[in-house]
Amino acid sequence: MFRDLFGSHRPALHVTELTSEHVPMASAIHAASFARTWGTLELERMIASEAIFADGVFAGGSNTLLGFALSRLVVDEAEILTIAVSPDARGHGAGRALLTHHLAHLARRGARNVFLEVDEGNEPALALYRHAHFTEIGRRPGYYPKADGSSATAITMRASLD
Ligand SMILES: CC(C)(COP(=O)(O)OP(=O)(O)OC[C@H]1O[C@@H](n2cnc3c(N)ncnc32)[C@H](O)[C@@H]1OP(=O)(O)O)[C@@H](O)C(=O)NCCC(=O)NCCS
Repeated sequence: MFRDLFGSHRPALHVTELTSEHVPMASAIHAASFARTWGTLELERMIASEAIFADGVFAGGSNTLLGFALSRLVVDEAEILTIAVSPDARGHGAGRALLTHHLAHLARRGARNVFLEVDEGNEPALALYRHAHFTEIGRRPGYYPKADGSSATAITMRASLD
């Protein structure tokens, strides 16, 4: 389906604040992206929270959610809790458009620093974050349990929005 939306070239994308209308699609994208899934109720609760800011990326004028980002803001520090793009829609710039708009949204709400954690082996996510000027500030070995019983290191990253 997303191939139809994109065709052979980069699509026009728009990013807007996520509402409860988008929660079922966001929950499905989360389930397709992570081992630990968030149910619709959990997402509804998060979006309703005053400390949480969530944005979704859509193709052209469509109302089909391609991906979403969700962060918690406390005073002037934000933490990206999740960012995910539907597997079929990856590699077309949706993640970059989403993160750019999401960071601008957080800045408008008063964020000066943004933090996140990422698996050291997650190359697409690392490329996305580096492009947005996130830099490594720490490592947590053994942070992410893996299906084969081993564990992966988490890299903590920070970006200044000043
Ligand atoms: C990380 C993710 C959101 C990126 O979304 P996307 O729409 O594919 O991203 P884009 O197409 O905008 O590409 C962003 C960057 O990643 C790079 N990239 C995309 N797919 C890649 C791949 N398979 N391998 C390496 N780099 C890749 C792009 O080249 C681009 O880098 P650049 O800005 O230096 O050119 C997406 O891969 C995803 O949802 N992954 C699963 C969930 C996840 O891991 N989230 C992050 C948790 S910390």
